[in-house]
Amino acid sequence: MQERIGDVYRLDLGLTKLWVLTRPEHAQHILQNNARNYRKGDHFDTPLRSVIRNGSAVSDLAKWRALRSIALPYFQGDRLSDLPIFVDAAWRSLEGVIAEHCALGRPLNLSRLMECASVSVACQQFGFGVPTYPELVAYLDAIKTLMYGDSPLFFATRLFPWAPLPSRAHLQQAAVQVRQIVTSWIATRLKQDDPRDDFCNALLRLVSQDIPAVQGDSAVLAAMLYDELFQILLAAHETVSAGLAWTTWLLSSHASIRENVAAEIDARPNWAIESAPAYLDGVIKESLRLFPPAWRITRRAIEDDTIGRFTVPAGAPVMLFVFGLHRHPDFWPAPNAFHPERFFGATRHDLGWQWMAFGAGPRSCIGGDMAVIEMKLILAWLMRRYRITPVAPPPLDSRVNLAVTLRLRRPQYVHLHRSSAVPPSFA
Ligand code: HEM
Repeated sequence: MQERIGDVYRLDLGLTKLWVLTRPEHAQHILQNNARNYRKGDHFDTPLRSVIRNGSAVSDLAKWRALRSIALPYFQGDRLSDLPIFVDAAWRSLEGVIAEHCALGRPLNLSRLMECASVSVACQQFGFGVPTYPELVAYLDAIKTLMYGDSPLFFATRLFPWAPLPSRAHLQQAAVQVRQIVTSWIATRLKQDDPRDDFCNALLRLVSQDIPAVQGDSAVLAAMLYDELFQILLAAHETVSAGLAWTTWLLSSHASIRENVAAEIDARPNWAIESAPAYLDGVIKESLRLFPPAWRITRRAIEDDTIGRFTVPAGAPVMLFVFGLHRHPDFWPAPNAFHPERFFGATRHDLGWQWMAFGAGPRSCIGGDMAVIEMKLILAWLMRRYRITPVAPPPLDSRVNLAVTLRLRRPQYVHLHRSSAVPPSFA
C-alpha cells in the first residue's frame, strides 16, 4: 500500500509505515536542521550489521563521534596526495590477469575489475599495502555472499534468523572469511610497527587507550581494530566500485561523451589532484547523480516531527530517496539525460541540497573528496592504457539493482585492447 501526498510517500510495510522523501528541503530538514531528531541505524541496515558487527557508523552515537573526528582528517586535503601512486599500484597488480584474458580473447568482467581496483586503493590508503589478486577475489566473493546473497534463500535467512536454513552456514562461512582476510591485512600492517601519522595508528591509539595491557600483541589489536576499521573499508570500496561501474556503463552508451573524456585524458597525461580534468569531473558527478551508489539514506524519527504539511510520528522509519531527488524534474532539467556539462565549474556549495551523493550534515560521507579523486584516477588510468569495447550492454529494462548500494543488475563484460605500450603514471 502506498499513499502519496505531494512529494512525500507513505508506504505501508505491515507493522510500520515508511516515510519516503524526495525534495532538497526534506534532505536539509532531516540531515541538518533537525538531524538530532533522526537516529541512524535500524532494520534497513540489517544486511550490513552482520558484516559490520559493532562498527559505530551503524549506530552507537558516542563511539561514532570519536571515530568520525579521528577518521575525517585522514581522508581529506594533503592526506590524499598519494592516491595517484595507489591507483598506479592497484592497476599494475591487475595487469597480469588482464593480459591473460586479452591473450585468450576472453571478455573481462569490468565491474569486478573496478571492485578490485577500489579495494586495492582503499587498502593502500589504510596502510595495508597492495593486496594480491587472489586475496581481492576471495574478499570480494565473501562480501558479495554476505551483502547480496547468492542463493534464493538469502532473504529468508535474513527474515527468519532463528530458522535452521542451509544457506545460513554459507553466510557464516563468508563472514568468517571476510574477518580473517581483513584481520590479516591489519595484522600485517601492525607488524610493520610503522610510526607514521596515519589513520591506522590514530585508530590504534583510540582503541587501545583503555586497555594499555594489550599493546604490542598485534593479533589482539588487529581483532580490536577490525570492527572500527572494516566499516570504513567497506564504505570506501562498495560505493566507489558501484560508481565506477555506472560511469563506465554510461560512457559505453554515450560515444561522444566517451570521446571527449578520452581526448581530455590524452591531452593531459599528468595532472595534479587539485587541477584534475574538468570534463571528467563533470562525468563522474553526473554519473553519481543519475545512479547514486547510496541511493537512499535512512533514519528513524525519535520524536514526532513536522515536515512541511506532514507529521512523522515518533519511531517512524524515514527514507530520503536520493535516486528520486536526483531526478526530480523541479530541480533538474531533462532529469534522466546524461549531461556532464551541468556540473562544469559547479562547487559543492552551488549544488545545494539537490545533489546528495555523499549525504550532508553531521553524518555526511567522510570520503567524498577521496571518492571523486580516486574515481577520476582509476578511470583515467584504464582509459589511457586500454581501449574498452563492451561485449553487450546490459538490457535497459533490468539494469538497476536497488541493493545496499545501487548496482548494475548484471556485470558489464568488455574486451580490453592495449592502446599504450607503457602503463600510464600519475605518480
Ligand atoms: C562514490 C563513493 C561514495 C559514496 C556515493 C558515498 C556515500 C555516502 C553517503 C550518502 C553517506 C551518508 C550516509 C547517511 O547519512 O546515512 C556516507 C557515509 C560514510 N561514508 Fe561514504 N561514500 C562514498 C565513498 C566513501 C569513501 C571513499 C569512504 C572512505 C573513507 C567513505 C566513508 C564513509 C563513512 C565512514 C561514512 C559514515 C559517516 C558517519 O556516519 O559519520 N565513503 N557515504
